[in-house]
Amino acid sequence: MRYAAQFSDTISLGQGTPLFPTPYFIYEALLERSKVDGKIGMYSDAIPEIEKNLIELIKKQIDDDYGFYPNSKELILTLGGIGALFSSLMALIEKGDEIIFFDPSYPLHLSQIHLAEATPIFVSLKENDGWSFNIDSLKKAITKKTRAIILTNPNNPTGTVLSEADVRAIAETVISNNLILILDEAYFVLTYGKEIFSPLFIPELRKHTILCRSFSKEYAMTGWRIGYAYAPSELAERIFNIHTYFSICPPTPSMVAVTAAISDPRGKEAMAEMIKKISESRNAICTRLDNLPNLFTYHTPQGAFYVFPKFLGFEMPDMDFAKLLIKETGVITVGGSSMGPSGMGHLRMSFASDISVIHKAFDRIDKFYQRCGL
Ligand SMILES: Cc1ncc(COP(=O)(O)O)c(C=O)c1O
Repeated sequence: MRYAAQFSDTISLGQGTPLFPTPYFIYEALLERSKVDGKIGMYSDAIPEIEKNLIELIKKQIDDDYGFYPNSKELILTLGGIGALFSSLMALIEKGDEIIFFDPSYPLHLSQIHLAEATPIFVSLKENDGWSFNIDSLKKAITKKTRAIILTNPNNPTGTVLSEADVRAIAETVISNNLILILDEAYFVLTYGKEIFSPLFIPELRKHTILCRSFSKEYAMTGWRIGYAYAPSELAERIFNIHTYFSICPPTPSMVAVTAAISDPRGKEAMAEMIKKISESRNAICTRLDNLPNLFTYHTPQGAFYVFPKFLGFEMPDMDFAKLLIKETGVITVGGSSMGPSGMGHLRMSFASDISVIHKAFDRIDKFYQRCGL
């Protein structure tokens, strides 16, 4: 992003944010509330019922999505999914603990593991096998120091949605080794034709799981910074304390906004409309990549909103290739090695935008392809 800032007329397939505006009724709901409630700009404990109502709505969402009803002691409102993930790691980890990281995955997990002074242990996903994972590699990676496994499902950047058999294999490994599964389901609602089988569907796994979710992607609300963690109550208390010590609370106005997003039927309608557009953009990006066979190979994403092609014909690090692409075409992507060693030689492209943006970006990449004589 910093490199791209020096160029004008860029097109971003870089950042993982839906390039759609937050549905307008959400702003209106916040404005209406601000007219009658002078406290919504204060720390959230000034109006406890805002937090309480939102927690109740999240309980209902968990029941809808996972088929069980958590209690209030198991839920913590956080600063986005990131706040949930970071406070979970800090609550869990002692210096030197090992955390299993499926490689490639979301790079901020790696940064947070380092901030928490733990050691990431890479379990590589197999590109030739559609970025699937191998249970034996996972088992081999577990040592006496292993504390947790971080799982992102659907995965960023590979777009993989795990099969039920793979989820059950991970669950069995977590339980038999008495580990914690840090489950990042930021893209729970974004799958394309493949049903998600969440680890939380397995009741015995629940007391070993910290779920981190957010409203960022679901309602195009990345800037509002509201997410949550669900965890066994003892752990939840520690997560809550840590989250409080670095944030005091998530932003109160954003809680009001998220409450409107979840409780008003227009929220689900807007979500469905956005998912429809993102699905169209997914089809478009796959077709455009298919037209560049000497430049990219890739696996069709089953979930999230990223495609993770390998680039061909350029012997250079992925970061350099991402920069070359910006310089030559103005199209911003992300170098894959930031997502773990197996991401080397790849670019992450986000397709969470209007289909016209995808076409505009690929019209430019097509011209570059022709100039290079590929
Ligand atoms: C896998 C994953 N988890 C968590 C997040 C963080 O999202 P937020 O903090 O906005 O909820 C992201 C954002 O891109 C993500 O891709």
